[in-house]
Amino acid sequence: MKKINIGILGFGNVGTGTYNVLTKNKDLIAKRYDVEIEVTKILARDLTKDRGIALPNGFLTSDPDEIIMNKDIDIVCEVLGGIEPATTFMLTAMKEGKHVVTANKAAVAANYTKLISAAKENNVEFRFEASVGGAIPILSSITMPLSANDFSEVLGIVNGTTNYILTQMSDYGLEYEDVLKKAQELGFAEADPTADVEGIDVANKLSILIALMFDTYIAPDKIPTTGITEITKDDIEKAKAEGKRIKLIASAKMEEGKLTYSVTPMALSQDHPLARVNNEFNAVYVTGNACDSLMFYGRGAGPLPTGSAVAGDVIMIASTIK
Ligand code: HSE
Repeated sequence: MKKINIGILGFGNVGTGTYNVLTKNKDLIAKRYDVEIEVTKILARDLTKDRGIALPNGFLTSDPDEIIMNKDIDIVCEVLGGIEPATTFMLTAMKEGKHVVTANKAAVAANYTKLISAAKENNVEFRFEASVGGAIPILSSITMPLSANDFSEVLGIVNGTTNYILTQMSDYGLEYEDVLKKAQELGFAEADPTADVEGIDVANKLSILIALMFDTYIAPDKIPTTGITEITKDDIEKAKAEGKRIKLIASAKMEEGKLTYSVTPMALSQDHPLARVNNEFNAVYVTGNACDSLMFYGRGAGPLPTGSAVAGDVIMIASTIK
């Protein structure tokens, strides 16, 4: 059986989730795809931290070159987060002939054109399913099964942390700060949760959705963005009294050749499909001229759901190159 070696850049929430999925389901994956997928090296900031996982000696490294320049590694998973050094690592890995998988929405959104071009120039695969919607296979669906459509609209709840905060504040009357802390503990929030609560993470994800659905690159900082930091308990109670729920919504609409887009909190009536998406769950509602409207729903954050999407991209590449 052909063996494909994987190096993971980053051993935080997503890195751990990815390692656990690929290791736990290794035999199942091998049986399904006739390929042995082996994680051989992981870049970690702290080599001594107890992660509750037994790892062979020399398996962790603090030197990224041991992965991106390693002749024996076929696929590099970048799950560090942040634009740099993640983008440089991905570009270098591609130049070294490695296929790249990432969950890093900030890096993909900021350097979309550069990363796609580098993959083409170096004749390698570049996949980033985990960057939008966690476990939900939204990007693969847009680019494959739905690719015949002319899309007119996307509406989404694509940040687990803020949806968790809004849900807990609304359903249990909890305080913003306490719920944010819990979201961090559960591994939903970014290292710096400002990106979550200010809507920046959602703008990154919307930029990626727009690029794939409307073939137009809009830099995330050009998307009008409002987060949830100004939402008060009063706003939530007022919305509830009117039979509505406040959600942080990413939207893009193409009308008569003009694309409009924004990230903003909206009070949705209870019967709107997105109003019923709660806690860390995400949903993306897309409309195309052949498929009509579809809603994709699932866990949008957390180590295993995000690891599931990274692992899926790895398997997709491994089963093609084996
Ligand atoms: N911080 C992100 C969220 C992680 O809460 O949705 C998943 O992209």
